[in-house]
Amino acid sequence: MSDDELISKTASFIQEKFKAEGSGHDWFHIARVWRLSKHIAQNEKQADLLAVELGALLHDIADWKFHDGDMEAGSKASRKWLESIQVSDDVIKKVEDIVRSISFKAEGEKLELPSLESRIVFDADKIDAIGAIGIARAFAFGGHKGRLLYDPNVKPIKNMTFEQRLKSETHTINHFYEKLLLLKDLMQTETGKQMAERRHKFMEKFLEEFYSEWEGKI
Ligand code: ADP
Ligand code: NI
Repeated sequence: MSDDELISKTASFIQEKFKAEGSGHDWFHIARVWRLSKHIAQNEKQADLLAVELGALLHDIADWKFHDGDMEAGSKASRKWLESIQVSDDVIKKVEDIVRSISFKAEGEKLELPSLESRIVFDADKIDAIGAIGIARAFAFGGHKGRLLYDPNVKPIKNMTFEQRLKSETHTINHFYEKLLLLKDLMQTETGKQMAERRHKFMEKFLEEFYSEWEGKI
């Protein structure tokens, strides 16, 4: 199979699989991350585009949160699919690295991702969590969990540990301070950094406007 065929077969497989997905990782999130990854890869040069595209498409295939905390669930599921369409082992290994890097959630430690391809998809996934789309996703998530938009009496927790984050039930505005506003400094590629900058500014503007309306701006 040609690279294009491998990619489009994988896209159809994932689109079908994510049809009924209600956990915030819907097909359109995958499609956006795929697009962003291609864009970053083209700018960064030298990346293996086949691995990047397959990795972007498969990055959320099996979230450890829904697999009893099995951090390898995603890379295992990716290998299984890629073997079934006869992708070379060399590319499968690169994709496994990408999928593992994305599910890497340990906080506080220095991020050291194993390859350019994993840095690219990592950035794309985080970029989709900020800016206008990121704001919409955050409130959709909060609504799904039945949380308040905002409660001025509850302050954000800076430097949350991994466990604290798992248990956190605070309102959605706090999620900006606990995670979304920190993402731009986690960017792993120059292109990602530049893209995150603009979306970050937009979130800051949004928050400013939000508080001023909260106070009753006419
Ligand atoms: P990722 O896509 O990096 O795996 P998650 O699965 O943690 O991220 O979250 C999916 C989406 O839900 C993201 O847009 C994220 O910002 C949002 N989200 C996660 N936790 C919260 C929260 N406590 N409050 C609001 N939004 C959240
Ligand atoms: Ni994702």
